[in-house]
Formats: sequence, structure tokens, C-alpha cells
Amino acid sequence: MRRDQKNKLIIFSVATALALLGLALVVRFDLQLRALLRAQMGGLAAQADTIVDVVRLALLGILAYLLVRALNSLIFGLVFRLRRGYEAPSLVRNIFTIAAFTVFFLLIFSIVFPTVNLGALFTTSAIFGVILGLALQDTLGNFFAGISLQADRPFQVGDVITVGAQRHTGVVEEITWRAIKIRTFTNHVVLINNSSAAKEPIEVCPRNNLNARLINFNALYTDSPAKAIHVIREAVREADNVSKKIPPIVRIRNLGDNGVDYEVKYWLDDYAKYSDTDALVRQRIWYAFRRAGLNFAYPTRTLHLERGRVAEADAKGSAISERLAAVDIFAPLSADETAMLAKSAVSHVFAPSELVIRAGDPGSSMFVVHNGRVSVQITENGRARTVATLNEGDFFGEMALFTGEPRTANVVALEETEVLEIKHEAMKRVFETNPDLVESLSHIIAERREGLAARTDDSDAQRDHRAGLLTAIKRFFKLK
Ligand code: CMP
Repeated sequence: MRRDQKNKLIIFSVATALALLGLALVVRFDLQLRALLRAQMGGLAAQADTIVDVVRLALLGILAYLLVRALNSLIFGLVFRLRRGYEAPSLVRNIFTIAAFTVFFLLIFSIVFPTVNLGALFTTSAIFGVILGLALQDTLGNFFAGISLQADRPFQVGDVITVGAQRHTGVVEEITWRAIKIRTFTNHVVLINNSSAAKEPIEVCPRNNLNARLINFNALYTDSPAKAIHVIREAVREADNVSKKIPPIVRIRNLGDNGVDYEVKYWLDDYAKYSDTDALVRQRIWYAFRRAGLNFAYPTRTLHLERGRVAEADAKGSAISERLAAVDIFAPLSADETAMLAKSAVSHVFAPSELVIRAGDPGSSMFVVHNGRVSVQITENGRARTVATLNEGDFFGEMALFTGEPRTANVVALEETEVLEIKHEAMKRVFETNPDLVESLSHIIAERREGLAARTDDSDAQRDHRAGLLTAIKRFFKLK
């Protein structure tokens, strides 16, 4: 038994004992009491008797009230809990208390004052009725709104609701015949009249429901979205009270003035603790940003420092030269030729699953994978089929470039991928100084064609001869 329940039981027992003692005394010394009062009041016998009867009525009334409370606890606290697993709503309990007490009181009244006609007292008093009606207008409104809330059950004790013109948010603690009692997240108790709650929209986040939260953050335009999304999703999913049933979703909300605006949506095991969890999630985002080298975007202005840009371009250019020098078909090129090729190469970044090349399109450039991975896919019976996966240092798109034919396959980025695009003109210059390159490339193209043909059963592709290819490339590039 809880401490407050124990205290209530003690108060209940003491009050019952006192009321019983009082009643026993009044009954035992009834005659003496009346005689004493009559003597005191000097012959006003009727009034003296009425005083004793009122005392009796009061003591019996107190006992009746205590009995009703005991019955209430027994029926709704114990039996209801045993049968249904939860306590009856306090509105039901209050209605029971009022009804049972009224019945008991009228019964006791008619025993103590048998000569008074109670029915006539109520029915003949029209003024009393009007006064009562006006006085109880609000109370009755609340009462009936409370009943409709209990019948509809739009929310229950323990749910988080937002209600009222002032948008009070808190956990529902009680729904009485007069008001909804909610405890806000600053531990304040707010009482909202049932009748006003019934007129307002109420936002309910049920206790046994996976309720979601949204938190916004932003990052610099220079930070990769794929990286930011991955890092934040992993950081948030591990936070306490974030449900493991649905993984968090991180997405770009807006391309804002100061940076890329993101939102993270996550679902909570216990929604009542959402402010703590939101705070924890924000903290996790900060640490995850720090570890991953990402940056929050503040109101910014872009300052162009030419010297810095030159240095940056130099660093980038030498990284591209290194990459191209490591591509096997460009191995025969001199350092100057590779540097020239690197200068003309244009870098493009693709998001995961983005299409770099579409089968059937015309093509006048080839690509080298600088960072990331791509997959070469052909469509067979309406379904995509991967014929090759190409990694950093691999190249693609050479077939259309060297033969002038449409693109033979789709090329899709498997992760965030940076490719270097080399155009027709730049390749032509390379071929003119390195005629042997045409031959090694024609071998690779022929091999890849055979790879495609074996899968697609394309007899045309199989018929293409390597020697024929070499001539076709030379013709296309107008080489001798
Ligand atoms: P292109 O036809 O211009 O565009 C699609 C590219 O996919 C193609 O050039 C090749 O670079 C590449 N490709 C096609 N088939 C294969 C294969 N079997 N293996 C590797 N790459 C391929």
C-alpha cells in the first residue's frame, strides 16, 4: 500500500470512529439533550428538537458519505482494476458518489424528518429551480462535456495532449466531471474546463503509439549531403528513447540562404519524455558533426580570395593528374600530356543512385571514377541487371565517345561519386601524339562489348570485329 493510500485509510478510520461515537452519544443521551436545550431556550421546544434532529442528520450524513467513499474505492478501485486491469475514470466515480450520496441523504432525511415532504419542497419551488439552473449552467456544461469526453475517449490518462487557445501541452493526469488536468513539461498543473476543451481542437499523442518528432539543423553547402544524412541517421538512432522499430529519417528540407537545411524525423518509445529526447538528439548531432568534420551553417557571406583559389585549384589539379596517371590506358602518356588532360577534365559529383550515363543517349565524353563507385547496368526483360562495378581509377563512357554510337548501358552511382569528364577534343589531342593508345582502347571496347553481348545475346555486338573497331575509331577521330 502506498503512503498516501495509508494516510487516507487512517483519516477514513478516524472520521468513521468519531462520527459513530458522536451518533451513539446523541442517540444514548437523546432525551437529556432535548431537555437541556429546551431548558436553555426557554420553552422553544420545537426549535430545540429540530436542532437535535439536524445534528443527527449531519452525523448520519457524514456516515453515509464515508460509506459511499468506501463503496466507491471498493467497486471502482479494486473490482474494476481486477476485472479490467485499470481504475475507473474519475468522472464515473464522481457520478457514482453524487448519485449514491443523494439517495442515502434523502433516505436519512425522510427517516429523521418523516413529516417534511421533500418532493413538494423541490417541485413547488419554481424560483429555486431557476436559481439552481442559472447557478449550475457552467457546471452542467462541464459535466455533460465531460461525459461526452468519456464516451468518445479521444485520449486517456497518460497521453500527451496539446489543447486550448494557449496551446497547453502536457501529460493527461485526470479527467474529472469539471476539467481535464494536465501536467506540463515544466511540472505545472493546468486545468482546462471540459466545455472549453470540447470546443477546441485537441492534438493527441497517444501513450501506446509511436509518435514522431522533427528536429531541424543545417550544414554548409560544401559538406556532402550524403555524408551528413548518413552520419546524423547513425548518431540519432542510438539515442535513448529513440525507437528501434523505425529507423530515423534524415532529409533535405530546403536549400537555404546560409546552408543546406535538414530535418531529422525520429519516433519515440515514450513520447512524454520528448523534450529530454529532443535535447539529447541535438547534442548527438553536434558531436556527430564534430567527429565527421561537418560544419553548421551560420549566416554567411562568400569572400573570394584569389590567392586561396589558385592554391586550391593547383591542389585539385595535381590530385586529378595523379588520378589520371594511375588509369592504365593513360600509362603511356608523358607527365605533361597527363597534366594537359587533367586541365581539360571537368569534375562532377553524383549522389548515391543518381544516373551518370543513360543507355541510348548520344555521348561525346568519357569518365574516370575519381572517388566512389559506379555500376554498369543493362535492362533485360524490363529489369536492371549489373554487368560490372567500376571503382576509383576505372573509366567508362569510352564506347560512345570512340565509336559515335549511342551509350550502350546505364551507369549509376552506387555511393556519392566524383567523376572526371574527358571530352572528345582532349582525347583527340592525346591520340594524335600516342597512336598506340587507339589500339589498346579498341581492345578494351571490344572486350566490354563482348561482355554486353554475352548477357544480352546481342548478335550484332558479337559480330563486331576488333580490327573493324580500330578502323572505326580512327575514322571517327579523323586519325591516320
Ligand atoms: P558507353 O557505351 O559510352 O556508355 C555506357 C558505358 O558502360 C560504356 O560506354 C562502357 O564504358 C561501360 N560498359 C559497358 N559494358 C561494360 C562492361 N561489360 N564492363 C565494363 N564497362 C562496361
